[in-house]
Amino acid sequence: MRILGIETSCDETSAAVVEETGDAAKPWTTRSNVVASQVAIHREWGGVVPELASRQHIRDICSVVSRALAEAATTWSDLGAIAVTQGPGLVGSLLVGVSFAKAAAAASGLPLVAVHHLAGHIESLVLQNGELPLPSIVLVVSGGHTNLYLVETPGSYQLLSRTRDDAAGEAYDKVARLLGLGYPGGPAIDRLANSGDDRAVPLPTTRLTHADRNAPELKGDLDFSFSGLKTAVLRHVRAHEGPLSDAEIANVAASFQRVVVTALVERLFVAARRYGAKSVGVSGGVSANSRLRAALKERGEQREVPTFLPSLSLSTDNAAMIAAAGLRRLRAGHTASLDLNADPALPLT
Ligand code: KG4
Ligand code: ZN
Repeated sequence: MRILGIETSCDETSAAVVEETGDAAKPWTTRSNVVASQVAIHREWGGVVPELASRQHIRDICSVVSRALAEAATTWSDLGAIAVTQGPGLVGSLLVGVSFAKAAAAASGLPLVAVHHLAGHIESLVLQNGELPLPSIVLVVSGGHTNLYLVETPGSYQLLSRTRDDAAGEAYDKVARLLGLGYPGGPAIDRLANSGDDRAVPLPTTRLTHADRNAPELKGDLDFSFSGLKTAVLRHVRAHEGPLSDAEIANVAASFQRVVVTALVERLFVAARRYGAKSVGVSGGVSANSRLRAALKERGEQREVPTFLPSLSLSTDNAAMIAAAGLRRLRAGHTASLDLNADPALPLT
């Protein structure tokens, strides 16, 4: 079966066609994955402007879907279902994808599948690598989330921990802004850090030991926190006499990145040991980070736990991962009715 995936939760309009392979070990293959990025529009404002994002999704959605079908050599009658991101995300952005998918499902008679954006990020690992050895610990690290999940059976996601404040990608974007590196900050810091000294600027690591009063069921020591780190960078920049030189900015970027990547990888492997994981995976926009990718591979080899990453194009927001997660849900018997609504705070159950 081929499925059309649609993703409009933030500032990328994306459509993709993903097909089942019939091979249980590597269940899906990508036939097309078209992304229309709005980065150039939001860069001017230093971040995503929700109203501009939803308007641009409306302009782009029809042509993005047409291209995804054409590149996949697929017509509407070749499809078996339509999957769409229901949430979480920006409500105006989500509504464009959800409305388009409902209209397409009504017109074509195809079943509609509602997908959680983070299920898409988790399943991007399976789309890329095939089914993971289970149990697996998966870190989803993006602009909006830094969540650790235990995956015991395919399609089940148990939240183990998450950030108490800023997401890692958000910290990247905020630190980039205060270093004057523009938007989006993650790729800019990643590039610049290569030429910096990652020990030049002493920055704090936050280690949480107590349970969160708002979520006592989670084990506190696996949680993340990045807002203190961001404030430390701000203090460093303010305490500096005059503007930072290019070399000093590169040193701050490298030092910041070292602390973030260390925190992410450490907690991932603590969780892997605690739950006897047979694999670990990292997905979401920040998984495109070169240092994180290198650290993950290195730790995986040392500890003999296989480590998995999506390709760079499957790391940041895309519809192929939504299509893959949609196939998982469809095969588990879940379809949505045509009164589906976007849910900006959709929980992952
Ligand atoms: O998953 P994603 O595309 O959208 C969300 O669901 O949030 O993630 C976007 C985030 C942004 O914060 C961006 O700065 C970050 O991923 N990012 C990176 C890199 N590429 C994107 N962060 C660090 N290094 C990168 N190379
Ligand atoms: Zn995302």
